[in-house]
Amino acid sequence: MLSVLNTLTERLQLALEQAFPAAVGLLDPQLAAASKPEFGDFQANGALALAKSLRQPPRAVAEAIVARLADDPIVDALCLPPQIAGPGFINLTLRPQALVAQVAERLVDPRLGVPLEAAQAAVIVDFSSPNIAKEMHVGHLRSTIIGDCLARILEFRGQPVLRLNHVGDWGTQFGMLITHLKQVAPAALSTADAVDLGDLVVFYRQAKQRFDNDEAFQATARQEVVKLQGGDPLSLKAWGLLCDQSRREFEAIYKRLAIDIKERGESFYNPYLEAVLADLQTAGLLVRDDGAECVFLEGVSGKEGKPLPVIVRKSDGGYNYATTDLAAIRYRFAPPPAGDGARRLIYVTDAGQASHFAGVFQVARRAGWIPEGGRLEHVPFGLVQGEDGKKLKTRSGDTVRLKDLLDGAVERADADLRRRLAEEGRAESEEFIQQVASTVGLAAVKYADLSQNRTTNYQFSFDRMLALQGNTAPYLLYAVVRIAGIARKGGDLDSAGDGAPAEDGDGMPGRLTNAGELQFSEPQEWALVRHLLGFDAVIAEVEEELLPNRLCTYLFELSQVFNRFYDQVPVLKAPAEARGSRLALCRLTADTLKLGLGLLGIPTLERM
Ligand code: ARG
Repeated sequence: MLSVLNTLTERLQLALEQAFPAAVGLLDPQLAAASKPEFGDFQANGALALAKSLRQPPRAVAEAIVARLADDPIVDALCLPPQIAGPGFINLTLRPQALVAQVAERLVDPRLGVPLEAAQAAVIVDFSSPNIAKEMHVGHLRSTIIGDCLARILEFRGQPVLRLNHVGDWGTQFGMLITHLKQVAPAALSTADAVDLGDLVVFYRQAKQRFDNDEAFQATARQEVVKLQGGDPLSLKAWGLLCDQSRREFEAIYKRLAIDIKERGESFYNPYLEAVLADLQTAGLLVRDDGAECVFLEGVSGKEGKPLPVIVRKSDGGYNYATTDLAAIRYRFAPPPAGDGARRLIYVTDAGQASHFAGVFQVARRAGWIPEGGRLEHVPFGLVQGEDGKKLKTRSGDTVRLKDLLDGAVERADADLRRRLAEEGRAESEEFIQQVASTVGLAAVKYADLSQNRTTNYQFSFDRMLALQGNTAPYLLYAVVRIAGIARKGGDLDSAGDGAPAEDGDGMPGRLTNAGELQFSEPQEWALVRHLLGFDAVIAEVEEELLPNRLCTYLFELSQVFNRFYDQVPVLKAPAEARGSRLALCRLTADTLKLGLGLLGIPTLERM
């Protein structure tokens, strides 16, 4: 109902200006969704602040505003007479016909009231970003799921989004990896065919062990880094092989989770590192400290009150993670063709990297790389823990592999489904069972992650995420299935009553779209109407605050309000005058759940 909120804000603004011409400029009606249903739909707090600056009694100020509002035909068409509450809050309640008109609009609007923004410069979402030859762990999974959801929401709003996978494909660890590769699989370097290096995590561990225990190996590995950076063809080939194999493993996970992401690893920024130093030098920010080139941070100090540095070039001449991130910021903001010309950069990583990002953001700002209006945001998230509250591990104490974790969720969803089918005496095809189990299992993993406020740590529990009750994916998916069931039981008959089949045939009920035909009388209907109309505001909130759990909470509450409505108010057996309107609410609920879950990256089912 953001459009109604905007209209009413304008009218209130006008009323304020008319009632207090002397105070123009000081006025903000502060209209927002009401905090409690008894306050109506919207609540304006602006009269209090105005009364303070005018030194007048707040209630008198509110009364003067309300007197103006009472004469406004636009307000009168939308709202019941405004009420003053408490010291001077103005409460607005929408007229039933205004709500009905909004429902009618939603029923024919595939965007469900969410406005499409005019295209602007790109938004970059930097997410997932695992490291080559290392394991993609649950932290990367969290980044993948949250980043994908944020990208989907921004895309839906019409923003050009660049989804970037900033994989760790550069750095000193490649010295030992390449040295190990050359020794254990020399054949890999002489054939044109892809060679399977086996388990890369094991490979990494072996290389690391040799590096730590064998001095000759260590010396060769160091030389190897120099060769790689110097562009030696054989070293580059070995590097490429390692990247390819990791990439195949990462891609299997992305494919399974339907994640769209473009790889642009750290190595991409290699040619731009020198320019970073040059810019920092020109800006007068670079300080040589103990052989290293540093930028000292403002307002951040370490132990002895000494300002903390961001090290841009180490004393051995090497660059590090921060240097690459500086080059990335510079490139991403730079207008094309020299860069991406983005206006907003969003980084999704664990909270442990907060000070890294605060540091590089500050350096980027002081270097003058951020264009006017450009935004840099770190979207941090907490740790994934086991049910014991400790780091997630397998029973034998190993780190959990993502593939096993996803398989585990699907296997449990499969077992749950077979049990339920047996209980209900339902016979279903093997294909159906596998499809439902895989959708539910993966949805459960995604939803469990997204529904938590991302800033807190989160406890991974198959039992909790797969429960049919509570704030879970299965509960929401089931609400959609329930509505599809209403359609199958006859609800998708054309509600005009001529028995003609529904035009768009999507298996969902309720095609009434004409405001004149819609009518609601029960409190459960009005509660559902109001909840449905809040969808656009929630999307706007998530877009701004980058908190997907807001959308999850909204969808969960919507399912609850719907279930209450459907349990307490007859729909298929409703009297003829009410049936069409109720089916229309069912349809709009399903559409809202499907769109909302889609924005979370979760596909829905017709049956489960
Ligand atoms: N590769 C890093 C890690 O695994 C995450 C990179 C995040 N993105 C960035 N631009 N620093 O922790």
